[in-house]
Amino acid sequence: MDKFVIEGQHTLTGEIVVSGAKNAALPIMAATLLWPGGYVLRNVPDLRDTRTFIRLMELIGAQVVFVDNRLDIDTRGCNRPEAPYELVKTMRASFYVLGPLLARFGRCRVSLPGGCNWGPRPVDLHLSAMEALGATITLDSGYIIAEGPVMGATINFEISSVGATGNALMAAVRAQGETIINNAAQEPEIVALAHFLQKMGAQIGGIGTTTLRITGQKELHDAEEEIIPDRIEAGTFLIAGALAGSKVRISNLRVDHLTAVLEKLAAAGVTVRHLDQAIELSRPKTITPVNIVTAPYPGYPTDLQAQWMAFMTQAEGSSVVQDNIYVDRFAHVPELSRLGAQINLNYNVATVKGPTELIGAPVMSTDIRASAAIVLTALVAEGTTELSRVYHIDRGYEAFEKKFAMLGARITRLPEGD
Ligand code: UD1
Repeated sequence: MDKFVIEGQHTLTGEIVVSGAKNAALPIMAATLLWPGGYVLRNVPDLRDTRTFIRLMELIGAQVVFVDNRLDIDTRGCNRPEAPYELVKTMRASFYVLGPLLARFGRCRVSLPGGCNWGPRPVDLHLSAMEALGATITLDSGYIIAEGPVMGATINFEISSVGATGNALMAAVRAQGETIINNAAQEPEIVALAHFLQKMGAQIGGIGTTTLRITGQKELHDAEEEIIPDRIEAGTFLIAGALAGSKVRISNLRVDHLTAVLEKLAAAGVTVRHLDQAIELSRPKTITPVNIVTAPYPGYPTDLQAQWMAFMTQAEGSSVVQDNIYVDRFAHVPELSRLGAQINLNYNVATVKGPTELIGAPVMSTDIRASAAIVLTALVAEGTTELSRVYHIDRGYEAFEKKFAMLGARITRLPEGD
């Protein structure tokens, strides 16, 4: 396990290029399990989570080659429709194999993920969607056994869920007949998955809306895809630039995927310069406190909630950060407090008092985005912060400290224990 040693108070300047989106790459990799074929995915981020998913696909029987952000996947030899606990417990997105494996093999065995660092995170919506499509679901020693041919149906999601929408969509493209998914997630990663499924031959209407209409196909075919830029990585660097930057340029981003974040940055007094597929920004003279409430896309993303809190520690006054998607997702609060942040947490509502003087301290990484927030805070703290357990960052951010080094930050990776 590695740790970061972060020397604070170096102004960021320069350019970074955003990598491909983890949360788009993983379901698209799962989708290749739907049909025995050969697939090429480009701009795939080289992350711990990508490599975990590759291991899972290899266990299922796929042949995978991953070189220079290009994935070549051959799913013709797949013959073991199973996702073991050892992998699913380390990465919940493994659950994405449920829909494709059920649709292709008519039976699969997928471990329940268990808890996560920010609460229970149930999978009931995934399971009820499979049941609506005609599957029989049973629980056997912590494993879900899903069985039966999938048949077109109407699925009404009570809550907008990215993962459950993805799983239902993947199963439905090979179901017999038509499926309607109501209250479908509209996140860009779901749109990207739907576009890839179309390239495989799926018939999907309503892409990008809350109602998806799928006409099931008996056969699909090989496909190639370029993974969309990671809006959460882009948002993290945008907030870093607003917090500690002078002319920070973030390239290869989709501005239309970042509307909510850009609106909040503008309200905080940040002026952004729009360039061709890039944005340039600096820390404003005064950071105005701005409240956020997380919501499904196109609302403010929960995956950028912690980073916003880091930003607000330097605002001229108090702001409120409310997470309505994951009400327990506040593991970063005690760590930011160790650096001097003044945050009062009441259930899912945090009040951040700014501006506060921050001083480096030993802190711990708890999940991907909480870790990013700690790094941002450490960048403006006086002295040195030691962040342990950075494998969380390695799960979701490609070359995180290298990109920050390109902007002039001083972040050194050391083996834990040094
Ligand atoms: C995905 C993202 C994650 C992001 C989240 C919300 C991936 C791999 N992960 O996670 O980074 O934070 O979207 O944008 O893309 N829920 C249920 N029952 C279910 C499923 C979800 O109650 O069966 C609830 C969740 O507890 C949560 C809400 O639905 O309150 C939304 O979660 P969901 O969109 O499913 O998140 P994930 O797909 O797991």
